[in-house]
Amino acid sequence: MYKILRKEVLAPRINLMEIDAPFVARKGQPGQFIILRMREYSERIPLTIADFDREKGTVTIVFQEVGKSTEELATLNAGDVIADFVGPLGIPSDHGRKEDKKVVCVSGGVGTAVIFPELRKIKENGNYTITIQGSRSKELLFWSDRLEKYSDEFYITTDDGSFGRKGFVTDQLKDILAEKSDDIAYVLAIGPIPMMKFVCALTEQYSVKTYVSLNTIMVDGTGMCGSCRITVGNETKFACVDGPEFDGHLVDWKEMEDRNSRFIPQERESLERYRKLMGK
Ligand SMILES: Cc1cc2nc3c(=O)[nH]c(=O)nc-3n(C[C@H](O)[C@H](O)[C@H](O)COP(=O)(O)OP(=O)(O)OC[C@H]3O[C@@H](n4cnc5c(N)ncnc54)[C@H](O)[C@@H]3O)c2cc1C
Ligand code: FES
Repeated sequence: MYKILRKEVLAPRINLMEIDAPFVARKGQPGQFIILRMREYSERIPLTIADFDREKGTVTIVFQEVGKSTEELATLNAGDVIADFVGPLGIPSDHGRKEDKKVVCVSGGVGTAVIFPELRKIKENGNYTITIQGSRSKELLFWSDRLEKYSDEFYITTDDGSFGRKGFVTDQLKDILAEKSDDIAYVLAIGPIPMMKFVCALTEQYSVKTYVSLNTIMVDGTGMCGSCRITVGNETKFACVDGPEFDGHLVDWKEMEDRNSRFIPQERESLERYRKLMGK
């Protein structure tokens, strides 16, 4: 059993939990994830290691309530326990080495939590960092202060213009690429699938290498079930053991979108059943 030591609501339907998980905390690296099961009969859900404290033995997760399992997880509070918390899984990110050029990090929505430990590592290794954080509106922004702390240049965009620049992260990125694409080592983009897809379409025009973190449907997380299968550069990859980070210019985005939407009716039904049961 894994105890929740702290819970914080970062934004509407976006929650942070600090979990007592010393073995995961000891080995976890930026870019890796865990798979948790709230109860023994619950669904497994993959969540990124948003932060870790090796001395305290804690792992921080940040999750958005998008369906039954995440909505149920959000009902837990500090002092409650989670049945299984398995990790670290996936390949640690390879970013962080000192680059001669600037590194651009682009986060969208809850992708901010995923990109944070990577940005910190990139900055701590002496790189010049440019960060763009995007969200639908001001109320959904979180951890902007954390991102800014590790950024030489920091930009915020909101779709509705309620904070920062009105528009998408790609609007800001386009200006940066137009001004200095020759001075960019690579772009790391983490967020919703459409955001990562459009970032890649843009950076391809400027021939700037781009990495993305794929949130494919995962079940076992160990390369056994094939659920997270995705085509990257005409090769079949399993996001759980070959990723979750890949060269975004090689990802088959159409396949990614199709595979991630194949259970929508079942996911909707499951959420409706859960809400009815809870009297919501
Ligand atoms: C490596 C990895 C890291 C992730 N990190 C985070 C994170 O840090 N924070 C966060 O909020 N979300 C993260 N996700 C997405 C998160 O796992 C899903 O939002 C969650 O499983 C949804 O479950 P649900 O029952 O609440 O929603 P459902 O109603 O089941 O599904 C809603 C959406 O979540 C996706 N989803 C459902 N089940 C899974 C699954 N087993 N694996 C992957 N996606 C699924 C579906 O494509 C669907 O679009 C990550 C996914 C992966 C693969
Ligand atoms: S989640 Fe089963 S093979 Fe990747």
